[in-house]
Amino acid sequence: MIPTIEWKNGFVNMLDQTKLPIEIVYAECKDYQTVAKGIKELWVRGAPAIGIAAAMGIALGAQRIKAKNFDAFYEELMPICEHLASTRPTAVNLFWAIERMKEFVKKNKGEDIEAIKKKLIDESQKILDEDIEINKAMGKYGAEFIKDGDTILTHCNAGALATGGYGTALGVIRAAWEQGKKINVFADETRPILQGARLTAWELMQDKIPVTLITDNMAGHFMKKGVIDMAIVGTDRTVANGDVANKIGTYSVAVLCKEHNIPFYVAAPTSTIDLSIPSGELIPIEERNPIEITHIFGKTQIAPDNVKVANPAFDVTPAKYITAIITEKGSFRPRDIRKLGEKGVDLEKIRIK
Ligand code: MRU
Repeated sequence: MIPTIEWKNGFVNMLDQTKLPIEIVYAECKDYQTVAKGIKELWVRGAPAIGIAAAMGIALGAQRIKAKNFDAFYEELMPICEHLASTRPTAVNLFWAIERMKEFVKKNKGEDIEAIKKKLIDESQKILDEDIEINKAMGKYGAEFIKDGDTILTHCNAGALATGGYGTALGVIRAAWEQGKKINVFADETRPILQGARLTAWELMQDKIPVTLITDNMAGHFMKKGVIDMAIVGTDRTVANGDVANKIGTYSVAVLCKEHNIPFYVAAPTSTIDLSIPSGELIPIEERNPIEITHIFGKTQIAPDNVKVANPAFDVTPAKYITAIITEKGSFRPRDIRKLGEKGVDLEKIRIK
């Protein structure tokens, strides 16, 4: 797969996913404001990738800080962090990565400012590299649920494009494919931004993994016909009671799975787990521009002028619909997710095998 985001010539190079699959274009971000714009406008999207972009944005912004002493440097870094944090509210990875970068700076307080600036670039790259490793570990655990010959439904894009590489939900699918299992993927197109049609279908085709594109409202039909063996999706935020927020339409898929007795899995790197929130209804849900609903790509109008529009970008799937949450530490029942934050818990005992 081509890189989603990378350091290139001292700048942040971002694949502009709004142009896929028609064009493969990279946006060269020379300042942190452009990185923030790229996150807000979905050039880069998907929870882990947003976190990586924010970390790189901070590192990029830090390079231009002129302050010579630590306190002044830290003070100038804060508005950069705040600007990046204001881009999208739902994916907790954004805030997780920003906190990690801030903590990293604090830990290096004794160092020369120029050394800290250099180390920030390395730390953001480390977040990216670790993300790929995490996805591969998740893939290994998740692939255990996939049998040879399975047809798997997925929603939105939780693939290499949504992460540092390899993917979360698509990482699990990729791992099963690499193990030689003959699988088929059904990809929901994912209205209104069409991450399923534009990104998941494209990404799977790049890897020659068999994929069938369907509109979101076809999922129930194919489940009823017995075509779908399991569903697997990603998550933007997984909270203490095991509820997850993911792309709008995920909840409908989960409810349909329950009705048809189809297992519904969530691939969730621990960076998406937010144990500070007790249950899903408290997750902030991003409301996006109505034009995404009323027009096709801002161009062709498909609804009456001035129609009232609701456009939540995510919905919450309650834990009761989730068969297992797959993390890089193993797969768990949603109710056990909070134990990942507790000290002294023997994960081996609560892992689903
Ligand atoms: O609005 P997006 O495209 O950023 O939404 C992405 C999703 O909902 C993904 O499923 C989620 O971030 C998990 S990605 C590994």
